[in-house]
Amino acid sequence: MRISQAKAIELLKRGEIVAIPTETVYGLAADARNEEAISKIYATKQRPANNPLIVHIASAAQVLDWASEFPPLAQKLAQAFWPGPFTLVLPARKEVSASVRAGEPTVALRVPSHPVALTLLNDSGLGLAAPSANKYTQLSPTTAAHVEAGLGAEVPVLDGGACQVGIESTIVSVHGDEWQLLRPGMIDASDITAITGKPAMQQAITHLPKVPGQHLLHYSPRTPCLLFESRQAMLNYACNKTAAAALLFGEGKSVTDKDFVLPNDVALAAEHLYAALHTLDAAQAEIILIESPPADIAWDALRDRLQRATYHPHTQND
Ligand code: TXA
Ligand code: MG
Repeated sequence: MRISQAKAIELLKRGEIVAIPTETVYGLAADARNEEAISKIYATKQRPANNPLIVHIASAAQVLDWASEFPPLAQKLAQAFWPGPFTLVLPARKEVSASVRAGEPTVALRVPSHPVALTLLNDSGLGLAAPSANKYTQLSPTTAAHVEAGLGAEVPVLDGGACQVGIESTIVSVHGDEWQLLRPGMIDASDITAITGKPAMQQAITHLPKVPGQHLLHYSPRTPCLLFESRQAMLNYACNKTAAAALLFGEGKSVTDKDFVLPNDVALAAEHLYAALHTLDAAQAEIILIESPPADIAWDALRDRLQRATYHPHTQND
């Protein structure tokens, strides 16, 4: 159900959930200080309670409403990347809801750059807990229609158009003057090193959860997916498989009669990645064949999402 900005604010203040646009993906938002509202997020997503939520705030001036510390290194990162597709994990103030933190001593914070999200945060005065607006392990939504297809037509959605970044934010935890990359995104490790002046800490900071969204099966279409190292390997596999569809990066030989070709430009490919997977998932193929994106580190975040989308527990050792 599409709703107005004013209605979204009214619902959020009343403790209801609303799907909202951000520049990365649509989020399923609720007042981060309202326990009952938070429980609706977990229930709607069918998300396990041990997976914490990101709190979206209007500006870096609100960090200390949620975090007990805002170390200089984190301030530099916030200054460089906010508003934008970047999440900081910091030690939490103790009054931050344990259900938002999933019991962790830390809280994840992000200032989104989408104008609709920013206006919502400013006008409501709320901090909004918002995971991606999809069912647990399924594909993230980058349009209002994706949200409705995944969560049902009755979910209130504030339509802000198609998301421009297209994949979830980079997540970095900061502890004192050390940082760690918890989830790759379009702001990559070299961008972060350029701001902090130092590489990521090698050893895991022990009190942090190992990896956020750690489940190997994640971001998945319902149709089984297979990842291929090369176009040639796909062609070898696909010959005489009539019910296959394919996701390709860049021009070249076609693989199936249901190919979806993403551009060889990483920002454009990220922007359209989930829409491509949603389209392929709806193509009624028996299998989706996926070409590995270029080996360059700029494509790490995309590769991460595709590896998770194509993870098959029965064919892997871990
Ligand atoms: O771009 C994004 O980050 C989108 C938009 C809506 O902002 N949100 C998003 O939320 O991707 P979600 O819930 O799908 O992923 C958030 C990730 C989870 O994997 C969670 O484990 C991690 O953030 N996370 C949240 N709080 C954390 C914390 N305190 N420590 C470590 N990881 C945390
Ligand atoms: Mg998600």
